[in-house]
Amino acid sequence: MAQRKGIILAGGSGTRLYPITLGVSKQLLPIYDKPMIYYPLSVLMLSDIREIAIITTPQDQEQFKRTLGDGHQWGLELSYIAQPNPEGLAQAYVLAEGFLNGAPSAMVLGDNLFFGHGFPEMLVDANARPGGTVFCYRVQDPQRYGVLEFNAAGGVDRIVEKPVSAPSPYAVTGLYFLDETAPERAKSVQPSARGELEITSLLELYLADGLLNVQQMGRGFAWLDTGTHASLLDAGNFVRTLSERQGQQMGSPEEIAWGKGWITRDALRARARAFGKNEYGSYLMRLTEEG
Ligand code: DAU
Repeated sequence: MAQRKGIILAGGSGTRLYPITLGVSKQLLPIYDKPMIYYPLSVLMLSDIREIAIITTPQDQEQFKRTLGDGHQWGLELSYIAQPNPEGLAQAYVLAEGFLNGAPSAMVLGDNLFFGHGFPEMLVDANARPGGTVFCYRVQDPQRYGVLEFNAAGGVDRIVEKPVSAPSPYAVTGLYFLDETAPERAKSVQPSARGELEITSLLELYLADGLLNVQQMGRGFAWLDTGTHASLLDAGNFVRTLSERQGQQMGSPEEIAWGKGWITRDALRARARAFGKNEYGSYLMRLTEEG
């Protein structure tokens, strides 16, 4: 099987965060000390994925390139794909078909933040599974998400996008491990009533073929929302609280690349120097000294 490739979906209009996102892409906004996209990027890196395409609006692509570059600083190969209009999450697979070139994929939404003990192991496990793997999480407001409907035997019967009345409290998070058939399947997805190619419709195709594996993220996990002004601030405070308490970073691509042996000590030091004397730069410098 070809090596799994990564996709970060970071387009969309960000209207819910207006007026902040009138001039800047939502996924480049700060979550405490890093751009939002660092966190989903870290998720793909923890999954051992190094070849990653970033899907953005055409007008925001330059800013993403300036922020992330070609990825060599993290031992990655980053490329960029433009999505002319926000026509749905499943469209990402059609746009990325050439990039994937027959490889399986892991797609993460550029505004999803995950944190939890045992998460790296879950990711490496999902990377090795055939078919599709998604992660569900119990939430108080499931009607805002794709929601799982269970049958009496505890299996998943349906996945419903933003149901008026939610069949369960379990939302499907924005992280999708799908096999190499995803682009072909995505082409057969029909637009929903709101005119989008829904990811849930694509997942239901896997479900119908008995190929969808659903993993639950338990209560010890944090799956954070950044969809409103208040939840954006909460996410930043969460990252600050945890990193100050532990003296460890969350979502640092440099730290992950270093831990995985993808970059040299000199490369890490150069990166630390580039950030000067701020806390993030000092943290990276300490890593180079620890061995
Ligand atoms: O966050 C998980 C949820 O994400 C899932 O539970 C839902 O099934 C899924 O549809 C999605 O729901 P959202 O309401 O969060 O989707 P939203 O339209 O906000 O898009 C999610 C991100 O993807 C957002 O950062 C913008 C980006 N996006 C969205 C669309 C529709 C694109 O880049 N292109 C698009 O065409």
